[in-house]
Amino acid sequence: MFDSNFLRENNAKFNWHPMGHPADGIENPPPIFVESRGVKIKDIEGNEVIDAVGGLWNVNLGYSNQPVKDAITNQLNALPYYSTFKGSSNDKVIELSYLLKEFFKPEGMARSFFTSGGSDSVETALRLARQYHKIRGEANRTKFISVKFGYHGTHFGGASVNGNSRFRESYEPLLPGCFHIPSPHTYQNPFNESDPGKLSTLCLGALEDEILFQGKGTVAAFIMEPIQGAGGLIVPPDGFYKQAREICARHGVLFIADEVITGFGRTGEWSGSRLWDIKPDMMTLAKAITSGYFPFGATMVSEGVAEVFEGADPEAGAIGHGYTYTGHPVGAAAGITCLEETKRLKLKDNARERGQQLYDGLRDLARKIDIIGDVRGGKGLMTGMELVSDKSAKTPLDNQSMVMIHQKIYESGVNVRIAGHKILMSPPLIISSEEVDHMLYAFSEGLSVV
Ligand SMILES: Cc1ncc(COP(=O)(O)O)c(C=O)c1O
Repeated sequence: MFDSNFLRENNAKFNWHPMGHPADGIENPPPIFVESRGVKIKDIEGNEVIDAVGGLWNVNLGYSNQPVKDAITNQLNALPYYSTFKGSSNDKVIELSYLLKEFFKPEGMARSFFTSGGSDSVETALRLARQYHKIRGEANRTKFISVKFGYHGTHFGGASVNGNSRFRESYEPLLPGCFHIPSPHTYQNPFNESDPGKLSTLCLGALEDEILFQGKGTVAAFIMEPIQGAGGLIVPPDGFYKQAREICARHGVLFIADEVITGFGRTGEWSGSRLWDIKPDMMTLAKAITSGYFPFGATMVSEGVAEVFEGADPEAGAIGHGYTYTGHPVGAAAGITCLEETKRLKLKDNARERGQQLYDGLRDLARKIDIIGDVRGGKGLMTGMELVSDKSAKTPLDNQSMVMIHQKIYESGVNVRIAGHKILMSPPLIISSEEVDHMLYAFSEGLSVV
């Protein structure tokens, strides 16, 4: 075993961190986490902090769920791996696919295609969407429409429908045939419109206009998160998601709900689609499906989509896509127990109550602290803050101030995620009222340092 001095010395030297400059990790070494319990993580220096990031929007059950750990251990002993490529299966994947179909019945989901994470799930959905249209004799339907500020992972397909230039520019050219409409983001939009209803109408108009402009029968699918997460925590106005779904249905465009963050209770409902009362054609899942205990994901499809594939001739319907770890038995075993625990602990209800507490507390702070330009959330435990140096001009707060704020919040006992001048929060859904109060205390300390 290497000692802690070795770890400090070699921190970020030989591994590159996602979403950061390789040299930055060396200049500003990140905390090294070594232990966890409940909703807290402990670094190598012995500091124990509330994880307001929830791992990465995924550790919904917190870090000490013994039934999930036991399920993984038992499965490692019984069957640590076997492929589910054509010709073989395993008991756990059959069980999980049945349980997910039952759980997401209100969303109309009927089949699962398993993956190793969110980017894989998005890639799978985009590919299956094209194939669906080919089977039905509409081979020209190859294009995708998505929303600015959307985040759909980092594979080439997902990055192509991504709506943040930060994740696109260095990797262009991306997939041809991908188009973006404005996000219904009242704080920042090209229409300069802050009224949610009016903005919603404008963005929906843009969606329908884009479908028509691209040409009849050329758009395969529209993909959108029910609440835009990594792009800055944007809650669409009431009715937006449902009307977008209706526009897509009217034009034969498949509707993909990217539920990688919103699936399994984070929004205060069991899914974002259920929150907005829609039945999508496909749902992408990952993160909380195994609560971070094992890398896993799924793309689910509706009965209608399933019928098209299952009724197709052998060549057109065969799925020429899959991953070595599709249907991994340990991931599936973790998924089964995570679902049981998620339901047993009624996580969606705690997400709704604690989410409201956090949102209200931050809005109170915003009345006292001038650098809080906007607080977004109010739908479960997905909350965001935009920090500014000039409230009316919405000027983003500078990096150095953000670093100081981050540090002070950490010293006050809370780990948060900074994305540019935004603070995004997605703590474990088991968080208590006292722990949310502690988060609010840490924010009031941290936001007072500049
Ligand atoms: C909505 C959404 N889709 C896809 C992804 C990609 O998931 P992963 O990082 O597991 O590949 C993410 C990751 O944050 C996400 O938030």
